[in-house]
Amino acid sequence: MLERLGLMPTQASTVAGDVDALYLSLVALSVVFSVGIAAALAFFAIRYRRRSEAHEAEQIHGSLALELVWSIIPFVIAMGIFVWGASLFITLKRPPENAIEIFAVGKQWMWKLQHLEGRREINELHVPVGTPVKVTLTSEDVIHSFFVPAFRVKQDAVPGRYSTVWFEATQTGSFHLFCAEYCGTEHSLMIGTVTVMEPDDYQAWLSAGSGDGMAGPAHGDGPRSVAAAGGELFRDLRCHTCHRQAPGALGPSLTNVFGAQVTLRGGGTVRADEAYLRESIVDPRAKLTEGYDPIMPTFQGLVSEEGLMQLVAYIKSLAAGQDT
Ligand code: CUA
Repeated sequence: MLERLGLMPTQASTVAGDVDALYLSLVALSVVFSVGIAAALAFFAIRYRRRSEAHEAEQIHGSLALELVWSIIPFVIAMGIFVWGASLFITLKRPPENAIEIFAVGKQWMWKLQHLEGRREINELHVPVGTPVKVTLTSEDVIHSFFVPAFRVKQDAVPGRYSTVWFEATQTGSFHLFCAEYCGTEHSLMIGTVTVMEPDDYQAWLSAGSGDGMAGPAHGDGPRSVAAAGGELFRDLRCHTCHRQAPGALGPSLTNVFGAQVTLRGGGTVRADEAYLRESIVDPRAKLTEGYDPIMPTFQGLVSEEGLMQLVAYIKSLAAGQDT
């Protein structure tokens, strides 16, 4: 009903109903308490007003029952809100395993998006309906925020860091994409469209070549996959001269490194996720792999955020068992 009155955006994702239920419950709870307290205040002010100069109030000292009531009821309400909110938060923060992946880079003042299969877009995102979609976000300059009101998802894109957001659209159509973090003079123009398509239409769209409003892939005809672009960059930057599977190689082999526990020089382990791979490219000495010397130069500033995402995608693809 609120949607039809234009008071709420369309509910177009699997979590939209749950987010609205929590939000509207919090609003209702606030209204009940605000109105209740205001009414009680007015009632008591009149009912117990001072009626004459000699009128003295009767003092009451302590009431266990009353104190228990005003402690236990708010405690139960607060814990209920916490458990409800936390469980929804966990759902929102954990993309399903079978989610398709999109890379998004925020930049003053646009969203640059790339599909794993290679198609790129600017300020437009095409996704299939009924399929979980995981978006890995970062920024080239300042903090932006990826916000799709109809999906009830919003996530900051922070420079130097990866964050993720996921959604599963439940209906086809076009939906607003906003930047929800003030990011400069043209922040209000940093808007786009999410187009939700039937899966078959999406597949056809994906293979239809280079993206709207962006130069096509530099090599070949069809779009190169992100991992293939990363592989090319990997060779262009001569990463493979050290990172190879050979005795005496100067860097660790990257085959099957993604998702693995890496033993660090000086003790400790770290799980090789996207953030770790990115850090190891821009700040190689931060977490050195056991058995290797700190000889890798930093690639900070030499590779764009999109390039970093491509390299990470390439290294992820090596976990499928291919050789460097
Ligand atoms: Cu980007 Cu506001």
